[in-house]
Amino acid sequence: MPDKDWWRQAAIYQIYPRSFKDANGDGLGDINGITSKVEYLQSLSLDAVWLSPFYPSALADGGYDVDDYRNVDPNLGTLEDFDNMVKALHKVGIRVFVDIVPNHSSNRHVWFQEALASPPGSKARDRYIFRDGKGKNGELPPSDWISHFAPSAWTRTKNPDGTPGQWYLHLFAPEQPDFNWDNREVQLDFLETLRFWSDRGVDGFRVDVAHALKKDMTRLNRSIKSLDSFKIVQDGTDTLFDRNDVHTIFREWRKVFDEYDPPRVAVAEAYVRAPRRMLYAKPDELGQAFNFDLLIADYDAKLFKKIITANLKLAKSEGSSSTWVLDNHDQVRHATKYGLPKGTNLKEWLLSDGASVKLDRKLGLQRARAASMLLMALPGCIYIYQGEELGLFEVEDLPHSALQDPHWTRNVEIKSVKTPVKGLAFIHTEKGRDGCRVPLPWGKNGQSFGFSAGGSHLPQPKWFADFAVSVQSGVKNSTLELYRKALALRKKYQSTEDLTWVKTVDPEVLHFARENGWHCIMNFSGKVYKLPVGKVLIASGPLKDGKLPKDTCVWIKVD
Ligand code: BGC
Repeated sequence: MPDKDWWRQAAIYQIYPRSFKDANGDGLGDINGITSKVEYLQSLSLDAVWLSPFYPSALADGGYDVDDYRNVDPNLGTLEDFDNMVKALHKVGIRVFVDIVPNHSSNRHVWFQEALASPPGSKARDRYIFRDGKGKNGELPPSDWISHFAPSAWTRTKNPDGTPGQWYLHLFAPEQPDFNWDNREVQLDFLETLRFWSDRGVDGFRVDVAHALKKDMTRLNRSIKSLDSFKIVQDGTDTLFDRNDVHTIFREWRKVFDEYDPPRVAVAEAYVRAPRRMLYAKPDELGQAFNFDLLIADYDAKLFKKIITANLKLAKSEGSSSTWVLDNHDQVRHATKYGLPKGTNLKEWLLSDGASVKLDRKLGLQRARAASMLLMALPGCIYIYQGEELGLFEVEDLPHSALQDPHWTRNVEIKSVKTPVKGLAFIHTEKGRDGCRVPLPWGKNGQSFGFSAGGSHLPQPKWFADFAVSVQSGVKNSTLELYRKALALRKKYQSTEDLTWVKTVDPEVLHFARENGWHCIMNFSGKVYKLPVGKVLIASGPLKDGKLPKDTCVWIKVD
């Protein structure tokens, strides 16, 4: 009988398809590229891979602007390639998650095109959120709401005869119109999409901005000048985020998941505070939700312990298992974050191309390796982002002309400047997320370090050569071998979803025991720490005379 609980403590690897591996030499990663690396994925003892969007898209937001939810971008392959990839992964016991982007489609989606060509009040327009503008001639947006990638969350349309028309809502880029989730046709269409991929053998779904689908559009008079969904009221009555009625959608999705054997699973990207986040992870909804608490936390023993304890308790209370994440395609890589002085403003640091504060790469990587090992020892599900297993840093100094992220291209202010010449200039206020999306280095040589027979859609820095898969493979203590070994051990030892904290004499040292005598001990910033008696299974860095130095994590088997 298929194991319906396989996901509870799974190791899931996030693939950003356009930057993973290119099989056809056009500089863009593709589906066949993934298939060609099944053996590599297998070497990481993974339970599943999650593919960021690979659907047809004009890439206004890295593929999170979907033209067609039930197809593969022709630049990345075909549905047949996709089926072959699933087959190849399943053959070696790796399951597949796809990314579902339900809050918005792209502006090239047939429905949005139909809506633009249809009159106000039409059925076609009701699938999205169209409103008349304010002002004498509707020239002002319906509300002052801002969007993530542009000053306003509203863009005005043109009527077919060229005159200015209604406005439509987009919480992200103007190329990403928000769906109207009160519309039954929208609801049913997503059920069809879930079935479409499930029928093709897809095992699970990552649900993009799950907390934003329902909005209270009767509140246009309420001002919204911040989209920080962590700061909203925590009772499900906010205008845009985490509304109580969003859960009816996911309860309906669960019914579709349960049509399959084993039931399909899902993980919510619900960027809200811990207790509310868990509502998405209820067994009758998505089952799991990303926990970004450690990803946004400082490197701090006390904080880590608090977050771990709280999340394990919360997950249990909702019948889910906790998830652990340090990196993804939206965040500065953790090897970089941990190498910057505490309190560094990452946004400013990125905007300075890394010049404003000195990065200590050695320290960053040492801490990143230790923290990853700690996470891998925790009960629950771990999500690993491609390249993390190579110890990649953020590429903070990508040439500006190469940047693709709407955070960079769209967040621009006109400011007066003194250099290079005095006057007004367009100043970018966000650098964006391209620095963690640079194509992977597979080999030491070649124009794209083995990523492609051709180039690479984002330029790779020279230092990628030292981090290539071929350079680290088989090399004792390389970050890749550390991940391989730790993930294999994790699989071997874990069983229950509990841990027991073991008291330490130094608060900078965290120590917990799992089942089967498996202990994890991490020294954050303390003095060299004496280890309990046991066999060292793996350590993130060298021990000092058998003791645990700071910024190091060790797993011990105690009999
Ligand atoms: C995805 C981002 C994307 C946004 C809009 C997010 O949460 O992870 O990459 O820009 O949703 O779809």
